[in-house]
Amino acid sequence: MCGIIGYVGDQSALDVALNGLRRLEYRGYDSSGVAVVGAGALRTARRAGKLANLEKLLSEGPEMNPMPGTTGMGHTRWATHGGPTDVNAHPHTDCTGAIAVIHNGIIENFAALRAELEGVGHELASETDTEVVAHLLEIELAGAEAGVVPEQPVAPPRAAAGAHPLTGALRRVCRRLEGAFTLVVLHRDYPEVVVGARRNSPLVVGLGQGEAFLASDVSAFIAHTREALEIGQDQVVEARRDGVTVTDFDGEIVEGRRYHVDWDASAAEKGGYPYFMLKEINEQPTALADTLRGRLSADGAIVLDEERLSAQDFRDVDKVFIVACGTAYHAGLIAKYAVEHWTRLPCEVEMASEFRYRDPVLDRSTLVIAISQSGETLDTLMAVKHAREQKARVLAICNTNGSTIPRESDAVLYTRCGPEVGVASTKTFLGQVAACLLVGLYLAQVRGVLYGDEVAAYVERLQRTPELVERTLARLEPMRELARSLAGAKAVLFLGRHVGYPVALEGALKLKELAYMHAEGFPAGELKHGPIALIEPGLPVLVIVPSPRGRANLHGKIVSNIQEVRARGARTIVIAEDGDVAVEPYADHLIRVPATASLFAPLVTTLPLQVFACELALARGLDVDQPRNLAKSVTVE
Ligand code: AGP
Repeated sequence: MCGIIGYVGDQSALDVALNGLRRLEYRGYDSSGVAVVGAGALRTARRAGKLANLEKLLSEGPEMNPMPGTTGMGHTRWATHGGPTDVNAHPHTDCTGAIAVIHNGIIENFAALRAELEGVGHELASETDTEVVAHLLEIELAGAEAGVVPEQPVAPPRAAAGAHPLTGALRRVCRRLEGAFTLVVLHRDYPEVVVGARRNSPLVVGLGQGEAFLASDVSAFIAHTREALEIGQDQVVEARRDGVTVTDFDGEIVEGRRYHVDWDASAAEKGGYPYFMLKEINEQPTALADTLRGRLSADGAIVLDEERLSAQDFRDVDKVFIVACGTAYHAGLIAKYAVEHWTRLPCEVEMASEFRYRDPVLDRSTLVIAISQSGETLDTLMAVKHAREQKARVLAICNTNGSTIPRESDAVLYTRCGPEVGVASTKTFLGQVAACLLVGLYLAQVRGVLYGDEVAAYVERLQRTPELVERTLARLEPMRELARSLAGAKAVLFLGRHVGYPVALEGALKLKELAYMHAEGFPAGELKHGPIALIEPGLPVLVIVPSPRGRANLHGKIVSNIQEVRARGARTIVIAEDGDVAVEPYADHLIRVPATASLFAPLVTTLPLQVFACELALARGLDVDQPRNLAKSVTVE
């Protein structure tokens, strides 16, 4: 939810932190702050609002280099405890001003810890949960009984890696914390280290030459190094110029998994587009092609990226649950149609935030498919953990190598969409839909429900869809014009049937989050059971029309639904495949998409809706990359 960067090396820590924050700002943009240790001092600066406010503050300072030093950290915040004010912005410091802490997540027992600290004389300045960590570290480092503020600075560091006093103190503090956290801490007297810890919240290490980085995701340090190290659950990392040491919360040294990041800094830049979202919409043909590339082995079998389950485990599956949030949930709803059609297994799709609270019936023959772009969404991660506790098998569909959800899963299929920076998911939705279709085919193949040649034919057809995506994107200028003309609309409805229904939900979500407009997606057949009362003259209604070659009667039914809303004054915007003439008399605006297989249709019908929401939001003067109140990765429940 928040973005974190920590650095130790020989570059200006302030420059590294600010550059990292520019790339992390999509994770949260309520406030930002930096801390640097150098010249015997710990200096901090923080400001409410976007990063530009902090940069302005730093540039207004009297000194050329307001924060000298080569050890430091930066934070960009999505507020949880305490509003987005200067005082609540991170870093937070202890009573002595020697320790600085940044944090992502929620410390659930912070109220008790705060009361304990205040009870022994600590003064906490902010309303945040984070600040308690700085004060707990103060106590731990003093080696004193709770409440005794140290008169002397802490003892000099010991030589052994992982045995640094700051590392040990953080381990002890972490053992007292409940909830989810990534923490990075600095100490005025220890410029040789930056120390981090994680539980249920992301932290990855960048390994450079004579320098190391701690960050929420690799985009923060990709301009410096592409060598990364995963940090596991309940682990502490001590980063020094000459390397890093990872321990668990009890101090046992653990091996992290190293990996090479297969994209570079340019992939995370705007590349000439005014907004990341526009770039990412246009990257969809490539993102889809990359996700689908090389998925059939020489003997015609679909290959996953990581498989810690046997073919027999998949054959034993008798029920599928899909868990995900937001856009990823919509991809899951589409997957249900494919999984049930191809495998004949019952499949339920569940919002991850609800899953574990309703006691779903799970056992070792249940397959849970978790879909997440970031691989860090806490609701989804908790659903995965719950599923595994109940002995279910978990297959992850994820876009972020090295993230937590794939690590906690039994099998993984990566969407290879590259970094997605715009808060609204676009290219990764297409990647998720394609990955879901592959998983459906994989299950059908391994269970023997579809023949190998049938699976191969589907995959080959799927691999031709990037070209259809490209053709669709090239024809969307009329959609842009229409969106601009509707900038003053009060609300928009989206209707669909079959796989067009989740597409309608996705279109409505895009419009809500980007244009701050009331938007709803409905199954077109459900309209007459209530929502049709919303129709009033001039209300824009977008309808995603299934192929006339698809499910029997479905096309005819939705044509009737279009007539029903039009008869009540709605302005109909119809998305229909090439050659579908039956819709023409009822469409006030007709947007054509290329024909494809019914189950693949979302890969093209979603595109006009993305463009519609983006263009309408821009016409309203809004920032489509950083919509209000949102953040890209939601690492709190
Ligand atoms: C939609 O545009 C959002 N980005 C959001 O709904 C997102 O899909 C959701 O928060 C899940 O994120 P994840 O894929 O990283 O788990």
